[in-house]
Amino acid sequence: MSVERQKGTISRRQFLQLGAVGGVVAATGSLLAGCAAPNIGGGASGPLKIGVLLPYSDIYAALGESITEGMRMYFESVDNRAGGRPIELITEDEGTAPDAAAQKARKLVEQDQVDLVAGIVSSGVAAALRDYFHDNQKFLIIANAGANALTRAAKSPYIFRASFTNWQPNWPMGSWAAANLGRRAFISVPDYGAGKDTISAFTHSFTAAGGEIVKVQLTPFPNIGDPAPFLAEIQAAAPDFVYSFYSGAAAVTFVKAYSDFGLTGSIPLAGSGFMVEQDVLPSHGSSALGIKSALHWALTLDNAENQAFVAAFAQRELPSGNKGANVFAVQGYDTARLIVEALNAVEGDMSRTDDLIGAFGSAAFPSPRGAFKMDSTTHNVINPIYIREVQEVNGTIANVVLTSVGEVPDPGDNSKDAV
Ligand code: BEZ
Repeated sequence: MSVERQKGTISRRQFLQLGAVGGVVAATGSLLAGCAAPNIGGGASGPLKIGVLLPYSDIYAALGESITEGMRMYFESVDNRAGGRPIELITEDEGTAPDAAAQKARKLVEQDQVDLVAGIVSSGVAAALRDYFHDNQKFLIIANAGANALTRAAKSPYIFRASFTNWQPNWPMGSWAAANLGRRAFISVPDYGAGKDTISAFTHSFTAAGGEIVKVQLTPFPNIGDPAPFLAEIQAAAPDFVYSFYSGAAAVTFVKAYSDFGLTGSIPLAGSGFMVEQDVLPSHGSSALGIKSALHWALTLDNAENQAFVAAFAQRELPSGNKGANVFAVQGYDTARLIVEALNAVEGDMSRTDDLIGAFGSAAFPSPRGAFKMDSTTHNVINPIYIREVQEVNGTIANVVLTSVGEVPDPGDNSKDAV
């Protein structure tokens, strides 16, 4: 093991400090930091055991289900084999509480002896897991959680992200919003790491383009509770538009309350695209029409990979009865492909650590999002970012691409964020 890798460890206190400065909040105790090194296994024989740690309960349950199904769909397309080994998935519920999720990660690694872990939806959970995977030199492939710091000061050779950083959709949206939505923005986000990353990225590019943030509203996470006081605050501020990050059940609550309160149609709503993704659009119905958002995918993208993906995913039977593709399913699919391609490169031998780091870091393949290209410097995927609008398309409601921003790599540091 190289000295350089070992030197990358940061203390839990340093990470919490990063949260204060860079926008990641790891609201958890030090459950994982400093625990004894587990027997981490490895090697090239037997089934490739993948621990899948995703939310199957609480506000992000539907995201976890979509990511899992996307993973399964890709693994099935390669006969459930990677590097010559049969793939075995062991799933655990991430929930939303970092401490409880950390215990599940330990169980997967130490008891189930998985070869690697994939998943993680919440930035708070990802922040809480970072030191455990880094210190134990165990691979973690993130399929959603956008915590910026994992690609910046808290980067680890063993952690790769196939989804996005919270910076990637929100920073381009700031300058676009200043030119297209108005000069006075009100920000409403949940009070945890992903919300805070959203504030810093959007604020910086929006104000640099001449915009003014009239107020920042932090709402309780994971459950917003009674949204009425928050909507009253928005109404009283009378901004040109509201910029938000909500996802899963929180997005359903917020967008419904926004409409019930009579704000839809009077104060335009915009945000990162999770708030109006395909998983929640059926619940939003016509109250989502006209909402503008930025994301690395849209149902209506007309590349061949996406058309095949959307058609195949529509046939899948999900346990909840939910139907149809969404960005989370895409991320699960791409995460699975990243794992298979890296394992193929080392012929299934997990002990070839340096070769695996090289293979994860140089992965590039066609994706429903347009193209998947891992950034070997940040260990985060370089995303095409699309500005989208919710419109009615052939009798259904979907995100239509208004413009493409092009490829957006995370900068790898906080230089482009407001402090
Ligand atoms: C996050 O916590 O990073 C996150 C959760 C849901 C959707 C997008 C980001």
